[in-house]
Amino acid sequence: MCGIVGYLGKKEKKEILLDGLSELEYRGYDSAGIAIIEDKKLSNFKAVGKIANLREKTKNFSSDGFGIAIGHTRWATHGKPTELNAHPHLGEYSYVVHNGIIENYQELKKELQKEGVNFLSQTDTEVIVHLFEKYYMQTQDSFDAFKKTISRLEGAYAILLISKADTKTIFFAKNGSPMLLGFDKKDIYFASSDTPIIGKATQVYYLEDGEYGYAQKGSVALFNRDKEVTITKQALVADKTLAQKDGYRFFMEKEIYEQSDVMSDTMIGRILDNSVYFEELDATFLDTITAIKICACGTSYHTALASSYLFERLAKIRCDVEIASEFRYKEPLLDKNTLFITISQSGETADTLEALKMAKKAGLKSLSICNVDNSSIVRESDTAILTRAGIEKGVASTKAFATQMMVLWMLSVQLGQKRNTLSQEQREVEIEAMLQTPKALIVTDTLHHKLNRLSKRYLHGHGFFFIGRDIFYPLALEGALKLKEISYLHAEGYPAGEMKHGPIALADSELFTIALMPKSMHYDKIKSNVEELSARDSTILAISSEPFDLADDFIQTEHDSHPMLEFFEMMVVTQLLALEISIRLGNDVDMPRNLAKSVTVE
Ligand code: F6R
Repeated sequence: MCGIVGYLGKKEKKEILLDGLSELEYRGYDSAGIAIIEDKKLSNFKAVGKIANLREKTKNFSSDGFGIAIGHTRWATHGKPTELNAHPHLGEYSYVVHNGIIENYQELKKELQKEGVNFLSQTDTEVIVHLFEKYYMQTQDSFDAFKKTISRLEGAYAILLISKADTKTIFFAKNGSPMLLGFDKKDIYFASSDTPIIGKATQVYYLEDGEYGYAQKGSVALFNRDKEVTITKQALVADKTLAQKDGYRFFMEKEIYEQSDVMSDTMIGRILDNSVYFEELDATFLDTITAIKICACGTSYHTALASSYLFERLAKIRCDVEIASEFRYKEPLLDKNTLFITISQSGETADTLEALKMAKKAGLKSLSICNVDNSSIVRESDTAILTRAGIEKGVASTKAFATQMMVLWMLSVQLGQKRNTLSQEQREVEIEAMLQTPKALIVTDTLHHKLNRLSKRYLHGHGFFFIGRDIFYPLALEGALKLKEISYLHAEGYPAGEMKHGPIALADSELFTIALMPKSMHYDKIKSNVEELSARDSTILAISSEPFDLADDFIQTEHDSHPMLEFFEMMVVTQLLALEISIRLGNDVDMPRNLAKSVTVE
């Protein structure tokens, strides 16, 4: 998501910042900006969209004397992606960049506004720079003002601040959001991850939570709770791709681990006072709709299918789901009061885009749920909700799937609110479960290790059946798709109750059943279906919070207080299973044969 770069030294600062921000592009962003102080002169540039736009704006600017510089890529959370909301944020004479969320910003903003401070942006970040200037006015001591500022902040942050009050110093602080210091001779670098400084700095120090301080020519003063701390530098890796993977073997593995964090980004600013709220949907957008039709392909089709259960159950609205390539040629009957939703991680899938154009032509309102802003599908839709998963590099989708599912769940609750189909109590149950989701997505060492060991027993056989009921049926489809995509083994997802209507004929010890057995939803029904398969000697891997004696292998889950929590936890298990099987088979996990990340042909 957001990214930070900083530099103190004599080199051309603009280039260091722009190159560094480009290295962070893969995380996703929708605006960028830089601020530089050189020879007491402050320069600042911001642009919405790609770094290329910022490059264009700065093409006549250079800065190669000693100076201080900070830069940022922003993924909008509080406030729209506009230049005013882009970082660095200006006070009267200081600039700040910030990653994270200042939870008490509204309270601080009110306090500052009462004292006559004028705010330019809608962001939480802007309070930091105004607080700094307020305290500087009182003490005329810039470090003291910075310390007082961070002592007022609640929440997560990585901060860089520069000021005309002290033109040779960069102030920094870290709490809950990553930040590091890079060193090369007298040059000092800052960044939110190491890729921007690889090839520039030779040594690195990863800041700990609660640490803050300042950098000046060739030296850094580091503190924790008012005590000065010694910096123990370590050598910086030299391989960028390795660094981008943050030590994981594959991007897909990293993306599975990231799901817990990105899920919080998906929810930020969208759950307020026990209600779901999407600023992307204006007050009347959902007013006239009487039904929903969703079109998507592949993994996105699976979230669509799962959401159809939620829309009907929570919002009591009819919801049909179609594979986009089928929808296009069936001469569908479309009703103007139907909301047409497209779901796509890339926003470029040709079949989904064409289905959207057809629906628009027929006069339907359209909404897309997408991970890529300004993509073709987003531009074509009346409105779009971004899933905020950050860039997904693994071809087999994981975090994009997870965040799509969250947006759809939230949307079904929002519709339930609007249509009065959910009591206050039901709404609170759903929202409480949403807030618990990041926990259910945490990958523990024990789980990963267990799946690594189990995977060696599932490398042969004549096929896999992933089975589930209700929303766990689309999850079974998705589990099977993940496995086929990266292991090249034959796998199918099936509604558990359908097995006896044909596929059970395949059951023998070489048929692997992956059974999704949620405790909070139709447990006894799925249990009977799995017993039927066990009786025919199928090899069974059961995933449940409830121990199941007939399973050959068992993965015990923890979060069973709500079906969606079970859904997300089981999703992680199926993703890791596919990953470990694929690695054992020696496949290229991130770039499986014959597949592309963006399918722009029909
Ligand atoms: C599988 C996967 C694909 C895509 C499908 C549609 O891991 O990612 O099945 O979901 O090609 O793509 P989008 O979601 O970009 O429309």
